[in-house]
Amino acid sequence: MSNDHLEAQPVELEHLPEQREIVTFMRRSSPLNTSQRSALEQYDHLILQYPVGDLRQHFPNPARPLTVEIGFGMGRSLVLMAKANPERNFVGIEVHIPGIAQCVYEAGMAELDNLRVLDADAIQVLKEMPDNSINCVQLYFPDPWQKKRHFKRRFVIDERMQLVEQKLELGGTFHAATDWEPYAEWMLDVLDNRADLENLAGKGNSYPRPDWRPQTKFERRGIEEGHVINDFIFKKIK
Ligand SMILES: C[S@@+](CC[C@H](N)C(=O)[O-])C[C@H]1O[C@@H](n2cnc3c(N)ncnc32)[C@H](O)[C@@H]1O
Repeated sequence: MSNDHLEAQPVELEHLPEQREIVTFMRRSSPLNTSQRSALEQYDHLILQYPVGDLRQHFPNPARPLTVEIGFGMGRSLVLMAKANPERNFVGIEVHIPGIAQCVYEAGMAELDNLRVLDADAIQVLKEMPDNSINCVQLYFPDPWQKKRHFKRRFVIDERMQLVEQKLELGGTFHAATDWEPYAEWMLDVLDNRADLENLAGKGNSYPRPDWRPQTKFERRGIEEGHVINDFIFKKIK
């Protein structure tokens, strides 16, 4: 038998075959501070390990409505939302480890039992959820992927929205917010043309900033740079 397969040359990242999955994130490595490092151990019961299957089964009360937040960053706003809504369950999905650690640190200190987080590609997690199982999907200040050749990495494209719609319950909502106006226009164009979604602000409009959505780190940064914030809330109607 030939050993050719053992002698394959290393492939440069840029030359990997086309079929590599296009992802919406870039993993960044940054150091953890002391409390983040200890939080990963102390509050590991709040961290789910991929693959997770049906996210609802990981809560003491699985029948509560489920909110899934994609890319929660450092997680402050997610923790505040979970605190303010004890009648709901929340799952945050993120690939940034210091963010996961910071989020469980704050959730653990607040003794929340309705919040879980995991380090995974949210797309893969959604694919493994049963259809019609999520009450709300939140996408706050997603990476805008400003260069044209990166547009395919934007979360809000038809293919990914189809997946979100499939996993939302009837009457469930998709809530997005962005401080990047070209992405806001893009989002509106994609979302207003989805037959199964209804724009709760009326076609062509962004939703008035809800005061129950706590400010996020990237939102604050955007405001400091003079950016306008746009929220969009779409309901699954079919
Ligand atoms: C620009 S940051 C915004 C963070 C936070 N929502 C905020 O407003 O401060 C976007 C985050 O989404 C995460 N992200 C992007 N795509 C993701 C995916 N498919 N699964 C999990 N996390 C993702 C990135 O790692 C990044 O931390």
